[in-house]
Amino acid sequence: MNFRSEEELRSFGKQLAKQLRGGDWVSINGPLGAGKTVLCSGILQGLGFCGEVASPSYAIVHLYEPPELSIAVAHADLYRLDNVSELEELGLAEERAGRITLVEWAERAGSDYAIPSLCISIEPQADGSRNVQMKMEENEAANRT
Ligand SMILES: Nc1ncnc2c1ncn2[C@@H]1O[C@H](COP(=O)(O)OP(=O)(O)O)[C@@H](O)[C@H]1O
Ligand SMILES: [Mg+2]
Repeated sequence: MNFRSEEELRSFGKQLAKQLRGGDWVSINGPLGAGKTVLCSGILQGLGFCGEVASPSYAIVHLYEPPELSIAVAHADLYRLDNVSELEELGLAEERAGRITLVEWAERAGSDYAIPSLCISIEPQADGSRNVQMKMEENEAANRT
């Protein structure tokens, strides 16, 4: 898929939100400025959140909870993570059930930390548009047609 503007990518996130459910872990990768936070803000809007979505790059995790949106969301950014033990202290994987977890720079956690339900990668193109690839975990795809 290709998105020509921030608005297009955000509205894709809004649509995608409808496919997500409690327990989902969405890994989002792509270089700095690719649009990972834009996509997350679209997803949060799609779940009913009306406020401003700030990047969690300093806090590492921002939590959003009902009634501000329809389901709890943990929005994480692992860019500043020093090591995986720091991630374990945050308890992201343990708290996964019952909420949706959106993880920017998921690749920094390594592949053993959590099994994603959905992997998204965003690649900026020379013309300023963004190519987006999405891969759903096999069992998940079968479960939600
Ligand atoms: N086609 C596009 N899709 C998404 N963002 C775009 C696009 N073109 C330009 N941008 C800009 O790129 C930036 C993406 O920022 P952000 O979502 O914070 O990136 P990341 O979280 O991946 O570091 C925003 O300033 C946005 O306006
Ligand atoms: Mg970001």
